This record gives sequence, C-alpha cells and structure tokens, in this order.
Amino acid sequence: MTAMDGSIPPSRSPRFSAALSVTPLADEYRRQEAALRRCAPIAVTFEAGIYRPRTIEKARDLWLVRMKAEYESTAVFTDMAQLLMAAGASLDAHAVVLRMAHDELRHAELCARAVTALGALPTMDPQPPQLAGRGENCGPEERALRSVLYGCCLSETINAARFVDGLETTTDPFMREILRQLLSDERMHAQFGFLYFEAWCPWLDEHPDVRVRLARYLEYAFAVLERDLSGRVADPSSIAELDDEERAIGMPDRKRLPLTFYDTVAGAILPGLERLQIAATAAWIARRLVA
Ligand SMILES: [Fe+2]
Ligand SMILES: [Fe+2]
Repeated sequence: MTAMDGSIPPSRSPRFSAALSVTPLADEYRRQEAALRRCAPIAVTFEAGIYRPRTIEKARDLWLVRMKAEYESTAVFTDMAQLLMAAGASLDAHAVVLRMAHDELRHAELCARAVTALGALPTMDPQPPQLAGRGENCGPEERALRSVLYGCCLSETINAARFVDGLETTTDPFMREILRQLLSDERMHAQFGFLYFEAWCPWLDEHPDVRVRLARYLEYAFAVLERDLSGRVADPSSIAELDDEERAIGMPDRKRLPLTFYDTVAGAILPGLERLQIAATAAWIARRLVA
C-alpha cells in the first residue's frame, strides 16, 4: 500500500499467529483435529536442503497467502451458519456448515505447518472477508441459498479443482501430504452446496419464482467468480514458466489457472446446477458485474 504522498508506510507487524498455544487448549484442538480429518495423516518431514533458497522463498510466500485465505474463510461459514439458522435449515445442514468453519481453522493450521517448515513464522494480518450480500426483497430461505450457492457450489468447487491440479504436479512428499489433507475437506465443502440445494428442492418446487431469482443472482455471482478466481491475465505471455523444482514443491502453474477454472465451470458447476433446475448455463452466458 502506498500513502497519499507516494511514500510506503511502515509495515505493521502481523497481529495474529496460527501457532497453537502452550496450554491444554492445544491438546483439545489436537483431539478435535484427529476426530475431524477425513484421511489418515502420513508422517513426513520437509527436506528444505534439496531446494534453492529462491524456490523456498516463493513457496513460503504462497503458503503465507494460503494460510491467511483459509483463516479468513472461517468467517464465511460462521456467517453462513447464521443464515441457515434464520432460514430454518435442518440441524444436520447447520452442523455441517459449522464443521466447515472449523475445517477452515484446521486448514490455516495445516498451512502454518508448511510456512514453518519453509523457515518462516506463521503470522498474518487477517482481514474480514466480504460476506454474502443480504439482498433486498429476499426472504431468509433465499438469502441462505444464495450464500451456499456462491460459497460452496461456485467458489469451493473451484478451490477443490485447484487442489486436484496441484496434486498432479507436486512431487514433494511433505507438500503433497498437506495438499491431500486440504483437498479431502474442500471436496466436501463443494459437495455440500449441491446437497443443500437438493434438500431444498421441494421448497424450491413450491417457490418457482425463487429459482428464477437465483438464476438472475447467478449472472452477477459468475462475473464475480470469474473476476476473482479465474486467474485470467491480460497478457498470458508475461507469465514465467515454472522450472522443475518449483513444480515439485507445488508452485501453481499460473498458465493453467484459467484452463482449470473454465473446465470446472463447464464440467462441474453448470451441469450440477442445471440438474437442480437452476438455469445456470444461461446465467453464465449472461454474466455481468452489475448486481
Ligand atoms: Fe479451506
Ligand atoms: Fe473450504
């Protein structure tokens, strides 16, 4: 950030550390973590010495960004849980959303392990994320559906696809293990969206006007998704090729980001929503950044 006079303000030290406390709370956290994780962990240590310092530095920056994003995502799901409560969603749906909020805290801690292995402190300056718009002229049921639509059916589906992509080229055993743990949850976070809509299908059948309004909301939501997550750049030739070491340690191939994004929209998101009788394909074609 640059100040009004063009100078760079002194950086504040990050105010939050994802390291666990040295109290019995850390033991309680470990017990929760063991109970919640979806795949058994593989004990593997990171061999920093086999990489060039520049590669380690790039990987560290990547995991610091991921750690902050994962931590901030917790607020998306705690907000979603409140919307579900207002909508009168089933207790199981509500519990799964709160679980997903907890998963995001676990993900921040997993990223912190990568940051620490890469020789940095797991500190960050988290910002409150932009939460789902409350929407004018929209009842609590529709508000919750919109939040799930954007948060899970759209963004978490893209996130899960990114981790699948990352696992294809990452060969470092330590980084693969962290990606594998993250993916096992993110896949469910995406799936939750479609399951939630399935559960609400009878209600949507009784309220066909809401299906129409959701499709209209999607025109805007798709445009925001593309702006924020497609990875599209004005000049793709300006993107440097990854070398073997960067690929092995798990640096994402920025040239592949748009490809994965558009494939996931076309191959997973649109058919998944069309199956729920939401006119997603037409909304995708009509996407625009005007709400
Ligand atoms: Fe996550
Ligand atoms: Fe997630």
